Amino acid sequence: MRIEVRDYTKRIGSATVLDNINAIFESNKVYGLVGVNGSGKTMLLRALAGLIRPNEGKVIVDGQELNKDISFPNSMGIIIETPDLLGHLTGLENLKMLADIQRKVSTERICELMETFGLDPKDKRVLRKYSLGMKQKIGIIQAIMEDPELLILDEPFNALDRETVEKVWGILLEFKKKGKTIILTSHHKEDIDNLCDEVLFMEEGRLVLP
Ligand SMILES: Nc1ncnc2c1ncn2[C@@H]1O[C@H](COP(=O)(O)OP(=O)(O)O)[C@@H](O)[C@H]1O
Ligand SMILES: [Mg+2]
Repeated sequence: MRIEVRDYTKRIGSATVLDNINAIFESNKVYGLVGVNGSGKTMLLRALAGLIRPNEGKVIVDGQELNKDISFPNSMGIIIETPDLLGHLTGLENLKMLADIQRKVSTERICELMETFGLDPKDKRVLRKYSLGMKQKIGIIQAIMEDPELLILDEPFNALDRETVEKVWGILLEFKKKGKTIILTSHHKEDIDNLCDEVLFMEEGRLVLP
């Protein structure tokens, strides 16, 4: 998937949270967004996902303009901040509910992914009782389970133990090999160094040179 961001500006009230962003994201690559808190990383990911509308500029996904030709990139997996999951359902129930929307992934595959991440599909505990790291694992599974062409991952490594971080690195590099486009943020240099083909630096809503 090829995503082109052209002269994208987003203002909220009197603040310019994205300031004339221009960038291209291509298949077969992992992109890292780096910047201090509040620099606009999450906002840019939201823009790419079609979750916010620009005041000026546009996002073009495989030749189609977001908010005009299409509402969202089709075939997208996403984690933005804390995953939007239901506290009163189990991990498996949450994933099955999301899988029911598109019906692209079987329950067997979901269970297999849960086991890969050391989660028990038969675990009766509801998500409210999960640890932060366990919830993050569910978030990662929902993002990758339908094998999307585009992955947008906002701080996907937060709260994960070392073993899981390395597992996710492996999965993301496999995704990249399969020709997918991956855009992520992380505060850990090691994640960025290990994964990213290109790093974009953000400062006060702008993309800047390192
Ligand atoms: N819902 C919102 N309303 C107004 N301003 C917001 C909102 N969400 C984020 N911002 C502002 O947008 C800027 C960029 O935020 P964000 O993209 O979340 O930064 P980062 O992810 O790099 O920490 C910050 O100044 C933040 O205060
Ligand atoms: Mg953020």
